Amino acid sequence: MTNATMHRRQLAALLDTRDWLTNAAQTCAFIKQQIDELNWVGFYLQRQPRTLALGPFQGLPACNPIPFDQGVCGVAARTRQTQRVDDVHAVPDHIACDAASRSELVVPLVVGDQLWGVLDLDSPQPARFSFEDQTMIEGLCAVFLEASDIEAIAA
Ligand code: SME
Repeated sequence: MTNATMHRRQLAALLDTRDWLTNAAQTCAFIKQQIDELNWVGFYLQRQPRTLALGPFQGLPACNPIPFDQGVCGVAARTRQTQRVDDVHAVPDHIACDAASRSELVVPLVVGDQLWGVLDLDSPQPARFSFEDQTMIEGLCAVFLEASDIEAIAA
């Protein structure tokens, strides 16, 4: 069994409620425990107008809110494409919540045709996230969304 498959199965077993808030908190704790060299992992939730609000996370207190037109999280929200940044210092738009962060992975969470939020991972290691890591974390996001009753997104 690959590591990615093992992580997916472990997270699916951990998320034994349909409550998205509980599951989001558990998902952060699981990722922080299982994935090496992370200084921050957490959810930002879509709010109106075109803003991300801080959700459950593990790490230092973080920036809130993040408008869609700012930061790596904003790019992920606007484009709905995973953002994998090897060197955050090379990204002028990067929002430094924790000065220790050197690389970042942001996965958009899309439900139906709506952006529900993003999952953001930060590492103090440059180029911490490989393409395989990206695929693995995207898989964990799919487990979270499948396990959870997602609340309606404010219009
Ligand atoms: N670095 C992010 C902001 C969120 S913190 O890393 C927790 C960004 O540029 O969007």
